[in-house]
Amino acid sequence: MKDWKEEADRMVKDQIIRRGVTNTRVLDAMRRLPRHLFVPSHLRYSAYTDQPLPIGQGQTISQPYIVAYMTECLDPKVGDRILEVGTGSGYQAAVLAELGCEVYSIEIREHHAKQAAARLKELGYTKVHIRIGNGAMGWQEEAPFDGIIVTAAAEEVPEKLVEQLKPGGRMVIPVGDSFFSQDLILIQKQESGKTISRSLIGVRFVPLVEKI
Ligand SMILES: C[S@@+](CC[C@H](N)C(=O)[O-])C[C@H]1O[C@@H](n2cnc3c(N)ncnc32)[C@H](O)[C@@H]1O
Repeated sequence: MKDWKEEADRMVKDQIIRRGVTNTRVLDAMRRLPRHLFVPSHLRYSAYTDQPLPIGQGQTISQPYIVAYMTECLDPKVGDRILEVGTGSGYQAAVLAELGCEVYSIEIREHHAKQAAARLKELGYTKVHIRIGNGAMGWQEEAPFDGIIVTAAAEEVPEKLVEQLKPGGRMVIPVGDSFFSQDLILIQKQESGKTISRSLIGVRFVPLVEKI
């Protein structure tokens, strides 16, 4: 990929800024990241296009705009400890690491977890920790988290994830029981421990599964 930086610039300008994402740290992180290294080699030519792409076993790397929008809504700060559920290709985790976060990412499919871990290591990301398992249970030993991002659709918000969110923290999660009707939900945990939820946009994610 000769001109991938140009493609990444164009992706940010035409797909992400045009749709209203303004967080410059998120935009810069996505300009810096070689997205083509997170997709299967035969799909590299489409890595910067406006769509999710298959990454094997029926799973996907999310559309660039959705990654940017979810990250902006999560609003991570440098040094935040973030839990990601659904490592997939590792791209979302790399975006968070570029933003200075310590990332704890859980993936239920061993193949994807191992491939993403190897890829992120090769790219020099030392602040992404990947574990194989059911992310709906969270990562108790590392909790609580400043933010939680779920990149597969849950039928209901998993209680364990709410428990593992710090007071003052945010969770972004697609919720819905069908591929055709899911809402991206933002959950904010108050200092009191009470949560406030708000529906943001309609989305289409692969399902959060309990086992494969
Ligand atoms: C849309 S893909 C994730 C995209 C990913 N964030 C990226 O940047 O490429 C959803 C991922 O969630 C995983 N997944 C589904 N259910 C899961 C669960 N219960 N726990 C952890 N991962 C799960 C799938 O195997 C798949 O890799």
